Amino acid sequence: MTASHRILSGIKPTGEMHIGNYFGAIQQQITLAHESDAYIMIADLHALNQVHDAAILRSNITSTLIAYIACGLDPEKVTLFQQSTVPAHAELTQILGAQVSLGLLERSHAYKDSIANGKPVNLGLFSYPVLMAADILLYQPEFVPVGNDQKQHVEIAVDLAQQFNHRYGEVFRIPKEYIPAEVGTIPGLDGRKMSKSYGNVLGLFEDPERIREKVMKITTDSRRPEEVKEPDTIVHLLSLVDAAAGDQLRSRYLAGGVGYREAKELLAEALIKKFAPLRERSLSLAEDHNYLARVLTKGAEKAAVVANETLHAAQRACGLR
Ligand code: TYM
Repeated sequence: MTASHRILSGIKPTGEMHIGNYFGAIQQQITLAHESDAYIMIADLHALNQVHDAAILRSNITSTLIAYIACGLDPEKVTLFQQSTVPAHAELTQILGAQVSLGLLERSHAYKDSIANGKPVNLGLFSYPVLMAADILLYQPEFVPVGNDQKQHVEIAVDLAQQFNHRYGEVFRIPKEYIPAEVGTIPGLDGRKMSKSYGNVLGLFEDPERIREKVMKITTDSRRPEEVKEPDTIVHLLSLVDAAAGDQLRSRYLAGGVGYREAKELLAEALIKKFAPLRERSLSLAEDHNYLARVLTKGAEKAAVVANETLHAAQRACGLR
């Protein structure tokens, strides 16, 4: 990745951020963002499909902004913005909506999961992939860093871009998802994908006592300390926090002689050490309302320049201008 590469990514402010978001998205987005031309978005219009309390949504938007900056994103180097403050997202969604078939949207995992779990589905949730395609295509990125669960959404964005370009001429660059294999799916406390909807998350800024309690609850089998063990969620998470400590624990699992209690203690202390400074930073950022407001104002101005250029090109191509 170099400064000439453009990337775009985002997070939905639906609640507490977890370490799955951190290792799966924030950490790699920050690394990539600082070496490229990056647009990072707080996807509040997406969250609106799920969060129906204004005060909670507002507070989630702020805590997502704080999390990005506390984790090291430098708003001077990266365009960090709130999606709904750039109206081009909603406008391009309407244009792309005229291209998309219902069949494509019906195949979306997020929609199928909601139906399968008997959750209510609103139009916003059904058309979610179209808004996400607009989010991406407006910025003409080469890469979209995300976790595995968002891969299908990026593929839909590619489909829509190709359809539009085919019908009206080249307007959109065809993006590609960027998913490093080792962080594609971060496991939660029960071994399934870490996700708020499974209730198996470790919060990003949780206090040390809570982290210890939760780590002790990680699901394991009943092997005794002396027995040989399969590398599991504990090893996986420890490797992400501290690669050398993770390797060492993996070898001890394979040799036998380490109990799950000790492994969990190692993980809990490593997590506390890693996230304590970030937690401190998040607490002091939360006091600085003026700074946070300035970041979003400046981010919206910078994002709108690029987004409007693409929107106008799309409008010209399809005859709206
Ligand atoms: P969201 O808010 O659900 O998740 C934000 C990012 O975190 C990743 N992630 C994970 N990665 C690995 N393991 C996990 N357990 C895990 N949990 C979450 C997600 O893959 C994602 O990268 N639709 C998006 C937000 C969005 C967006 C965009 C992203 C809106 N527009 C445009 C990229 C480009 C979402 O709901 O992510």
